[in-house]
Amino acid sequence: MALVTTKEMFAKALNADYAIGAFNVNNMEIIQGIVDAAKEEQAPLILQVSAGARKYAKPAYLVKLVEAAIIDTGLDICLHLDHGEDFDICKKCVDDGFTSVMIDGSKHPLEENIRITKEVVDYAHDHGVVVEAELGKLAGIEDAVKVDARNATFTVPEEAAEFVAKTGVDSLAVAIGTSHGAYKFKGTPYLDFERLKEIHALIPETPLVLHGASSVLKEFVDRCNEYGGKIPGAQGVPEEMILEAVKHGVCKVNIDTDLRLAMTAEIRRYFIEHPEDFDPRKYLGPARNAIKGMVAHKIRNVLNASGKM
Ligand code: G3H
Ligand code: 13P
Ligand code: ZN
Repeated sequence: MALVTTKEMFAKALNADYAIGAFNVNNMEIIQGIVDAAKEEQAPLILQVSAGARKYAKPAYLVKLVEAAIIDTGLDICLHLDHGEDFDICKKCVDDGFTSVMIDGSKHPLEENIRITKEVVDYAHDHGVVVEAELGKLAGIEDAVKVDARNATFTVPEEAAEFVAKTGVDSLAVAIGTSHGAYKFKGTPYLDFERLKEIHALIPETPLVLHGASSVLKEFVDRCNEYGGKIPGAQGVPEEMILEAVKHGVCKVNIDTDLRLAMTAEIRRYFIEHPEDFDPRKYLGPARNAIKGMVAHKIRNVLNASGKM
């Protein structure tokens, strides 16, 4: 039981028809819900922390909470920086004890993305930490529709091969039509699987990462709305599409929005059904269970649907 890198988990998952869940964490209840599910399902696990999470909870608390989760569950866990925007935040996380960092240079031109990614790779590898980078831009709700826009924003397979060769990065996040949040598609969901297959064929040894992989399950959106929420027209990536992506090199599946929806639905329900309660444990306990239920669902039905984990 320890903080581990993704090296071993990705080596096992690559081409093995299952993927590792990377779940975003912001507080104790979220961490506990996730690790309890991973323990019951005996699943490898990545807990990831965004810049927003670091600002909200403070890095020292999050690192100690994850260390506590390792002691409590006996699990090996990878602690990962999600969307590090520059060298400094990646360096800070390496120095803080993270075992994996993402340098997200996707907003830069290719050469600049290669330069900053390489800088992070050099520092991280010297400290035994692995690096994820991103190439291509996650499409917003409008962007995925037109072919021209796809070519301008999605990952270009040949560039992915050049990028990996020049940076020595450990894993690569690709843009094939997913986006962050609860509003991923306006019409029919679309992911560019042909592009994913081409990328995987060119860099078969590189674990691929799917950001924006929440499915925005109707049951949870409906429950939020039923208990006073306003989340109209939300739509995620259908779970069958994640299953398909996992068959073509995707080893890491990023999930945040589905956790937010599960937690919020439960807290909304609790407040409406128990207006007399004001002890935070009364609603954060069920919220933690909702996180656990969502993560168990993801592991059983999506990440490890093949049963090969
Ligand atoms: O990449 C986006 C994740 O859902 C993290 O979101 O930046 O609001 O913490 P956040
Ligand atoms: P979702 O918003 O689809 O959960 O994606 C989360 C993510 O990609 C974190 O990096
Ligand atoms: Zn992301």
